[in-house]
Amino acid sequence: MKDLACIVLCAGQGTRMKSARSKMLHDVAGKPLCLWSLDLATQLQAEPVIAVLGYQRELVSQILDKSVVCVTQDQQLGTGHAVQAAFKTLDNFKGRVLVLYGDTPLLGLETLKKLCDLSAKADIAMLTSTVRQPFGYGRIVRDSAGHIKQIIEERDASEFQKNIAEINPGIYVFDADFLRKNLPNLKANNQKHEYYLTDLIADSTKPIVSIEVPEEEILGVNDLLQMARADRILRRRINEHWMREGVQMFDYKTTYIDAQVELAPDVILEQGVILRGLCKIAQGSRIAAYSVLQDAVVGPECHVGPFARLRPGTVLEEGCKIGNFVEVKKSHFKKKSKANHLAYIGDTKVGEACNIGAGTITCNYDGLNKHETKIDDQVFVGSNTTLIAPVTLHEGSYIAAGSVITSDVPKGALGIGRARQENKDAKSLPRNRAV
Ligand code: UD1
Ligand code: CA
Repeated sequence: MKDLACIVLCAGQGTRMKSARSKMLHDVAGKPLCLWSLDLATQLQAEPVIAVLGYQRELVSQILDKSVVCVTQDQQLGTGHAVQAAFKTLDNFKGRVLVLYGDTPLLGLETLKKLCDLSAKADIAMLTSTVRQPFGYGRIVRDSAGHIKQIIEERDASEFQKNIAEINPGIYVFDADFLRKNLPNLKANNQKHEYYLTDLIADSTKPIVSIEVPEEEILGVNDLLQMARADRILRRRINEHWMREGVQMFDYKTTYIDAQVELAPDVILEQGVILRGLCKIAQGSRIAAYSVLQDAVVGPECHVGPFARLRPGTVLEEGCKIGNFVEVKKSHFKKKSKANHLAYIGDTKVGEACNIGAGTITCNYDGLNKHETKIDDQVFVGSNTTLIAPVTLHEGSYIAAGSVITSDVPKGALGIGRARQENKDAKSLPRNRAV
C-alpha cells in the first residue's frame, strides 16, 4: 500500500505472563508473538515499519527484520506516549499511519487492507468489536446519529458506559498530518495518569470511520491462557490453509504445523505429526504418525516415520525413506537412500541409493568437536554398525553387520570391524532343567 507507515507497540512487559522473558518473544504457533503484527505490516508493504520497544528491547530487536525501525520507550506512559515516540521518526511523512499492538496475533490481513482503504478520507479509521465480556477494554461511545464520539477506558467509565458491549480493539489508521497536529497536545488527565491514544478521537473534525470485526480477530495475548487460545486458533487456520492447498491430514486436530512451514500438494500428514520452524516438504511425501520435524527439508516422494525425528539441517532428496525411531541431524541424503529403523545419523553426507541398516549410529562427537561421516553412492551399511567419525565409506562399499568402523572403507570393499565368533565345547556348562 502506498504512503503507509506502520507503528507496532511492543514496549509492554506483559506482567500477567508471569515470565522473565518479554511476552513479545514467546512463540505462538511457532512464531514470536510480535512478529505476527510486524509481518502483517510487511505484507501491507508499509514503509517504514516502526517497532516501539521497552522491556528487553535488546532481545526483542534481535528477532526483528533489519528493515524495522526500532524506537525506545523507556518509561511506558501510555499508548499515546508510545505513538509519540515512534512518530518522531516520521518527520516529513505524508500519508496514513497504521497503529498495531504487538500482542494481537489473530488479526487478518484482509481486515487491515479494508481499514486502510476506508481511511482515505478520514482522520481516523478504526476497528471495533462487540464482545460478550467487555471488561478491561475501552468502550466505544456513539452519539445519537451513531457516530463514534469517544473511547472511554474501563477505569474512567460510568456504570452506564460499562454496559456498552462495543469495544476498542486498539487498531487504527491515522492521517499523518492529523497526528502531527494533535499528538503533542495529549494530556494525562485520567485515572491512570497516562497519555491515551484514544483521546485523539475527540480531536477529529471529520467523522471517525470504523469496521466491526469478530472478537476472535482482536483477541489480545496477556497471559499464558490467552496465548494457548491464540495458538490453537492460529494452528487451526494454518491447517485449514494447507488442507485447501492439497495437503491431506489424517487428524488435523493433532497435527501441529508452525507458521513458516511450507508444504506442497499431495503431502500426507498422519496423526500426531509436528512440523516446527522452517520445514519444507515437497509433493507426494508422507510423514507418518508421531514424527517430529524441525527445520527439515524433505524432497518429493519421501516417506518419513512413524516415530521419526528430523532435526535442523536435515535434507532428504527425492524418494528417501526414514523409518521408525530414526533420528537425523544436519545430514544430507541423496536420492532413494534409506534408513528404515532405529538409527542416529548426524553430520553425515549420504549418497544415492544407500541402505543404512537398523541400529546404525554415527559417532559424530568426541566430547569436544563434531566430526563428519561421508557415505558415498550405493553403500550398504549392515545392521548395528558404529561409524566413528571422521570416516568415509566409499562408493559401493559394504559394511558387515555389527561393525565398529574407525577408518575409511575403499570403493567396492567390504569393511568388517568386529570380533570373530568362536564356538567352544559346552558340555561342562549347567543345563536348563526346565526343558
Ligand atoms: C488499550 C486501549 C483500550 C483498548 C485496549 C485493547 C488506550 C488508552 N486504551 O488499553 O481502549 O480497549 O488497548 O487492548 O489506548 N504499550 C506500549 N507503551 C505504553 C503503553 C502500552 O508500548 O506506554 C503497548 C503495550 O505493550 C500493549 C499495548 O500497547 O501491547 C496496549 O497497552 P495496554 O496498556 O495493555 O492498553 P490497555 O490498557 O489494554
Ligand atoms: Ca492490553
